[in-house]
Amino acid sequence: MIKNMKKTITISAPGKLMLFGEHAVVYGKPCIVTSVNQRISIKAQKNDEPIFVLNAPDVEINNYSKPLSDLGNGEIPKGAKFVEFAVLNFLEKYRSVIPARFADSARRANAGIQLETVAQFKSTFGFGSSSASAVCTIKALAELFEIKLTEKEIFDLAYKTVLDVQGLGSGFDLAAAIYGGTLYFVTGGKTIQPLAISHLPLIVGYTGVKADTATIVKEVKARFEKYPKLLKNIYDGIAMIVKEAKIALEKNDLEKVGQLMNLNQGYLETLGVSSEKLSAMIYAARIAGAYGAKLSGAGGGDCMIALAPSSKRKAIEKAIEKVGGKVLEVEVNTEGVKLT
Ligand code: PMV
Repeated sequence: MIKNMKKTITISAPGKLMLFGEHAVVYGKPCIVTSVNQRISIKAQKNDEPIFVLNAPDVEINNYSKPLSDLGNGEIPKGAKFVEFAVLNFLEKYRSVIPARFADSARRANAGIQLETVAQFKSTFGFGSSSASAVCTIKALAELFEIKLTEKEIFDLAYKTVLDVQGLGSGFDLAAAIYGGTLYFVTGGKTIQPLAISHLPLIVGYTGVKADTATIVKEVKARFEKYPKLLKNIYDGIAMIVKEAKIALEKNDLEKVGQLMNLNQGYLETLGVSSEKLSAMIYAARIAGAYGAKLSGAGGGDCMIALAPSSKRKAIEKAIEKVGGKVLEVEVNTEGVKLT
């Protein structure tokens, strides 16, 4: 718990849902991601001691602390990794530009940092809690030490953090946490383009199974190495769907967006990343009248999404629950990282 009366900064960032293009985006292709109204928030304070302290009760991190000089070293609990590497990367990159009035503390790296995260959603939903917490950490430290960072600078540092922790990843979830809204995104932030979306009536169904994104991405990589030509064609096909979907979304042509979701799901089945539960929920949604449905994210578990006219919403929700899914009340296309 942060108790004393020092200046406290509170930052929040949204979670995300992948709409189109998962997996292919790891291989240089575009994807479309939207932010959700379930947020992660972080409270940050400076410490007198040169110590990093983290409380993140949602991921069972209680009073985790270590000297700043040890950041990134030793055994780091899973729930602390993204935040710890974000702090380390921030200090390595910006220590020398921390304003002089903080000179006798942070500038000499002997000011500690105390962080506390709170999530509005379970880390098991696959809404990108780790990435959102890395984004919040970087933004919070920038505010604490009064350093102005652009959205792209936050992205680049957060992306380095993700690569440090898990080696692979496109960074799409970081972009959603930073910029908010709905984005056309190319690997590593080569393109981050906000899309003007007016209305996206999504239904989100949770499988109850936590997807292990890093493992699935590695399995797909192994498949790519075994069948490079075949998988390259799949990624090219997904990229075409994403480009069509961008136009259909901007025109608010929901029927076409739904059809493109179904086509995208076909490719994901071919890649081998769907699951019996996901497919059952997806078919249930389609049969009950969705324009289209697909998995969202790495696959294997987490959530599926369906796009539907409001007249069919109730029936689709019922159908998803009938095959064992849990419908989550989620609004999409929400605000990016902000000071609260
Ligand atoms: O499982 P999620 O929701 O983190 O999504 C992973 C999406 C991938 O394209 C498979 C990986 C990535 O980093 O883009």
